[in-house]
Amino acid sequence: MTLNVSQIRSQFPILQRETANGVPLVYLDSTATSQKPLAVIEAMNDFYRRSNANIHRGVHTLAEEATALYEEARKKIAKFVNAPDARQVIFTRNTTESINLVAYTWARANLKEGDLAILTEMEHHSNLVPWHILQAERGIRLEFIPVKDDFTLDLETYRSLLDQGPKLVSFTHMSNVLGTINPVDEMIRLAHDVGAVTVIDGAQSVPHFSVDVQALDVDFLAFSAHKMCGPTGIGALYGKTSLLEKMPPFLGGGDMIKEVKLRSFRANTIPAKFEAGTPAIAEAVGFGAAADYLLSVGMDAIAIHEHQITEYALDRLEEIPGVKLFGPTADKKGGVAAFSLDGVHPHDVAQILDRDGVAVRAGHHCAQPLHEKFGLPATSRASFYLYNTKGEVDKLVDGIYKVKKYFA
Ligand code: ALA
Repeated sequence: MTLNVSQIRSQFPILQRETANGVPLVYLDSTATSQKPLAVIEAMNDFYRRSNANIHRGVHTLAEEATALYEEARKKIAKFVNAPDARQVIFTRNTTESINLVAYTWARANLKEGDLAILTEMEHHSNLVPWHILQAERGIRLEFIPVKDDFTLDLETYRSLLDQGPKLVSFTHMSNVLGTINPVDEMIRLAHDVGAVTVIDGAQSVPHFSVDVQALDVDFLAFSAHKMCGPTGIGALYGKTSLLEKMPPFLGGGDMIKEVKLRSFRANTIPAKFEAGTPAIAEAVGFGAAADYLLSVGMDAIAIHEHQITEYALDRLEEIPGVKLFGPTADKKGGVAAFSLDGVHPHDVAQILDRDGVAVRAGHHCAQPLHEKFGLPATSRASFYLYNTKGEVDKLVDGIYKVKKYFA
C-alpha cells in the first residue's frame, strides 16, 4: 500500500511551478487548503465548457445535465463518508457554514437558556464562535474538555461533564494545530449514553483518512471540499435523517421551498430545504471529482503515507536546537507539525522559509484559545498531504537552519 508519490505529484500542476525566487515550490500548507489535481480542474472546466446552466429549474438539455451532475456529486460525497442516503448530504459553503447551519437550525429549535453544550479547548474558531453567538442570544452554557499536557483530551473531565446532562457535544475529529486525532467513537458513544446530539468538525479528518458516518453513528459531520483536493466555496454537512427532517430551514429563498404565498411559505424536503438560492454548481462537480480522485488513490494508503511523512518530520524537527513541537507523538496525530523556534517570531520563520519556496502557515491558525492555553501568540505550522515527500521535509529542516543562522 505504498503511494506512487511521483505519479501523484504529476497530477497536480501547481506542484510543478517555481516560486518568486525561481526555486521549486515545497507546499507544506495543506491544512489551510490543499492543492487540486487535474481530475478536479478538468471536471470544473468541462462543466463550464459543456454543461453550465442553473439547476432544478429548467427543462432544457443543459439544465437537466447540470442538475444531474450536481446530484451525482452529492451521491459521490455520500459514498465518500458512507452516508446511507445522499439526501443526508447538504451542500454548504464550507465547514464553518455547516456548523453554523446546525447552530442556527437544530440548536435554535432545541436549546434553551441553561442548556449545556460541550466543546473542547482545541477547537478552531468555526466550532467556537457559532456557539458563543448562541450563548449570548439564548443563554446556553458552554463547557470545554481540557487539553492535557500531552496534547490529548482529558476524557476524565469529559465524563464528569457528561454527568451534567449536556444537550450537545461538538468537537473536532483532528486538531488543525496539534494534529491530535480524538477518540471520536468513544466520545460519541459516551455522548449518546446521556442523550446528547453529536457534531464532528471533520475539516481535518475527512480529507486524510477514511471517515464512516454509520460506523461512528455521529449525528452531524461538517467538512470542506477545499481541504480534500476540491475547490473552495463548497463543503458539506452530513446529518441523520430524523434530525434533518425536523430542523427548520436555514436561509430562505429559491429552491428551499415547496410553495410560496405572499405571506407564507412551505419548506422543501431535505436536502433542498437547506440549500437556498443558486448553489455552487461547478464547485459541487469539482467536489465530487475530488472524492472520486481520493478514493481512486485509496484513503488507507493516503493515511499510511501521511503517517510516515509525519513521523519523519517530527524526528527531523526535534533534532533542531531551539525548535519546540506542539502536538502529541506521531501515533496519536495526523499530518501536522506546529512548532516554535526560540527567539524568532513565527511570521519571520515563514517568510524566510518562503525564500526557499517552502510554504508553511504562521499565526494562530484560527485557534486562538488553544494558543493562549499554551502561552503562545502564534506558531509556525507545516502540514502534509498525499503529494508531500521526505525530501520536502528535508528542505523544511534546511530552511529552519537558515532561519537560525539569520537570527543568530
Ligand atoms: N482551519 C484552517 C487552517 O488551519 C483555516 O489553516
